[in-house]
Amino acid sequence: MDQQAETAAARILVVGATGFLGAKILRQLEATTTQALRAMSRRGAPAGASGAVEWVRGDLMDLASLDAALQGVDVVISSANGYMKETIAADFQGNKNLIEAAARAGVKRFVFLSIVGCDAAPDVPHFHAKSVAEGLIKASGMVYVFVRAPAFLDQANDYVAKGVKAGRFYAVGDKATRWSWVLTDDLADYMARAATHSDPAILNQSIDIGWRDGAKSQGELARIIGKVTGKQLRVWSVPWFLLRILVRPVKLFSELGYDMLKMFLFFRSGRFVADIALQERFFGPAPMAEDAVRRWASQAGLGE
Ligand SMILES: NC(=O)c1ccc[n+]([C@@H]2O[C@H](COP(=O)([O-])OP(=O)(O)OC[C@H]3O[C@@H](n4cnc5c(N)ncnc54)[C@H](OP(=O)(O)O)[C@@H]3O)[C@@H](O)[C@H]2O)c1
Repeated sequence: MDQQAETAAARILVVGATGFLGAKILRQLEATTTQALRAMSRRGAPAGASGAVEWVRGDLMDLASLDAALQGVDVVISSANGYMKETIAADFQGNKNLIEAAARAGVKRFVFLSIVGCDAAPDVPHFHAKSVAEGLIKASGMVYVFVRAPAFLDQANDYVAKGVKAGRFYAVGDKATRWSWVLTDDLADYMARAATHSDPAILNQSIDIGWRDGAKSQGELARIIGKVTGKQLRVWSVPWFLLRILVRPVKLFSELGYDMLKMFLFFRSGRFVADIALQERFFGPAPMAEDAVRRWASQAGLGE
């Protein structure tokens, strides 16, 4: 069977389908593919779930539930994570369980939401977890597509939008260090397309995501947001030295706090920057920063 025929008949399992990004990936797949869609959550189908999707209960920490969820599945697409709301165990042991179960089930394509530069940041726990999972997927012999995301412009709890409403841009570190960004609508689109792309050249690729006009500093982002919204923003930043001082005490009582501090200190190295060559090859021209900010501002009710 050639790749095109194989993907045309595929059943896709979306892992993490109830998440902020995961739900957008599922919606994007529903809108763009006729392939059979299965979605996994520990709670089963959420209220108001579409009848077009088969919901299964599954837990990354429960091997039997994963084997059941993966029955008859050809493509796995996962953005699940535990570190943001619960524990990082799901990102290490949970991903390991999912990868091993997918290999046992004979999955033909594993689309994994990873992070730009994760292999260069072993001190940032959730970046390291992505790098470890990438290594396990490669070692399993399964065909994969890694979609490596940069920082999200929009979040479930959109602190940037809240700041803008108050005339501020809440920054971390300084106004000058650049890193890459993405709007989650665009990322969900790339993830869905990575699962269904018929060009075999996309297989076994690691695809960085970013904007056409490159990484942006928080000062530059504040100026673009100011231009789009017509608001004069004052940049309020927490200095790097304070972040460095906080690392040790925060480690004692907050796994997530420690992870975030180490992540921002990695950003300072200037290595959290996407190379978008493969993104543009497989998904077309990347958006410009101003275009992405305009769409975000409109969704967040910040337009002029
Ligand atoms: N925020 C950023 O700037 C940024 C940047 C780069 C990459 N990322 C990555 O983007 C993704 C964010 O996804 P999101 O916004 O959809 O996350 P989210 O809103 O935090 O949702 C987490 C998802 O993971 C699932 N999950 C957690 N533990 C699980 C377990 N033990 N078993 C099964 N499912 C489990 C949850 O499912 P149930 O609770 O329904 O079971 C839920 O669907 C993550 O992979 C993150 O690493 C984020």
